[in-house]
Amino acid sequence: MDLSSTYLGLPLAHPLITGASPLVDDLDVVRRLEDAGAAAITMHSLFEEQITAERDATWRHLDLHAEGHAEATTYFPRDDEYRLGPDQYLEQIRRIKAAVAVPVIASLNGATGRGWTDYAAAMQQAGADALELNVYMVATDLQVPGADIEQRIIDAARLVRAAVTIPVAVKLSPFFSSLSHLAGRLDDEGVNGLVLFNRFYQPDIDIEQLDVVPHLRLSDSSELLLRLRWLAILSGRVRAGLACSGGVHTAADAIKAIMAGAHAVQLVSALLHDGPERLATLRLDLERWMIEHEYASVAQMRGSMSLGRCPDPAAFERGNYVKLLQTWRPR
Ligand SMILES: Cc1cc2nc3c(=O)[nH]c(=O)nc-3n(C[C@H](O)[C@H](O)[C@H](O)COP(=O)(O)O)c2cc1C
Repeated sequence: MDLSSTYLGLPLAHPLITGASPLVDDLDVVRRLEDAGAAAITMHSLFEEQITAERDATWRHLDLHAEGHAEATTYFPRDDEYRLGPDQYLEQIRRIKAAVAVPVIASLNGATGRGWTDYAAAMQQAGADALELNVYMVATDLQVPGADIEQRIIDAARLVRAAVTIPVAVKLSPFFSSLSHLAGRLDDEGVNGLVLFNRFYQPDIDIEQLDVVPHLRLSDSSELLLRLRWLAILSGRVRAGLACSGGVHTAADAIKAIMAGAHAVQLVSALLHDGPERLATLRLDLERWMIEHEYASVAQMRGSMSLGRCPDPAAFERGNYVKLLQTWRPR
């Protein structure tokens, strides 16, 4: 049984890898992840705001930047509230690389990508095997058209792509008018991987306290469906490797993601909930299922349910939507 896969040019023993999460902060947990068979480990992000705060602090120190922080910075964690500062982050890459043999993917997370390039290069120097860029932003400006937002993401990816020689993936949100077009443009920029998707942390409203309540809820398998759709649409149509992030909790979830076209399947909530050892069970279940269903390799399974050969994916999607609505009979 050949479970191997290749993602971002990295040979993986199988497609199951860890997604960006705090699991990497403790070296013992990192070793447990490797022992459980994680094929690669993605670090949690270093945030653009940490990098710019450090740079602004240097400027203030040099008395070149009299203004100090704008009000907006008060929305963000204080420097000492981040898990790892920028230098500690680089040190953690070195420590993880020394502790485990599997590929380590570092993560940069920002809205504009300004100031990332130096850190991208430093992450490579610290030993990262690849970089994941998470361009998390909620577009709130009534004057800024979607094309500008997309251009920002492409510019950030281009800058980072040019700053390093290791592979670069971009972690996207699903909320674009034409995700396919954006994916195609990132592909044209030479981005090596697309991670589908970022998860938005949607705050609720406490109607008694009149307060905004942030939620960090772990995912469940229902979140996979959105990923399956877009993996299936993009599979075979971009050169970039595809990673599924969101809603993978069982071997069946991972199998669906691979059939839809994923080269790598990222796990976070399942591991935070059940512990790193969950990965070993998932890998075994994956192998068992493939034997039972007479698959010889992951490669044979990958993309088998994609829309890659469908002449008109948009018509396919709309056709199914219309058909489905017609099946509903009021009671
Ligand atoms: C506690 C926690 C911390 C996370 N930190 C990051 C992060 O630093 N950078 C990032 O790109 N994604 C981060 N994520 C998002 C995950 O990488 C992943 O995309 C998301 O949880 C969906 O995958 P899942 O369904 O397997 O949990 C975090 C998620 C959780 C639950």
